[in-house]
Amino acid sequence: MTIRFILNGDDVELVTGAEVSLLAILREHFHLYGAKCGCMRGSCGVCSVIFNGAVCPSCLIPAFKVRNSEIITFEGFSQTVEYADIKGGFTRAGVELCGYCSAGKYLAAATLLDRVVRPEKDDFLNAFRGIRCRCTESENLYAGIVAAGELRQQRIYGRIP
Ligand code: FES
Ligand code: FES
Repeated sequence: MTIRFILNGDDVELVTGAEVSLLAILREHFHLYGAKCGCMRGSCGVCSVIFNGAVCPSCLIPAFKVRNSEIITFEGFSQTVEYADIKGGFTRAGVELCGYCSAGKYLAAATLLDRVVRPEKDDFLNAFRGIRCRCTESENLYAGIVAAGELRQQRIYGRIP
């Protein structure tokens, strides 16, 4: 089947099988490797993308659902000012990053901070429940998200309101 969709802001088109996963399409067709291969069952989050505004595991999204959708990958997100806020917050809090789960970690943080300016611990736990990370303690990651939210507010308002 032929599918068209928006990938990191560009209109793209390809011919693929209806059941081929978005993860395979990103890696094999577009050579975008930010979404990693992990459990392949939707439970680890290392393959995360933003799919029509929500963080989703790309290993579970078949090509027929990708048609006419809007996808943002870690590569696309890493070009944004929001990415810089989160990177700065993680650095400020000393969040360890081996890079394997970066797609899930950054994209979950981005969509959380889009919804909640100052996330409470429960907001954080809810947003990150699908992301497994072997490198970072939950408390440390939460501190990084809070710091990222403050940097974002400073950038937008010139101060923390
Ligand atoms: S590889 Fe997709 S959720 Fe684990
Ligand atoms: S930063 Fe290493 S697995 Fe998450």
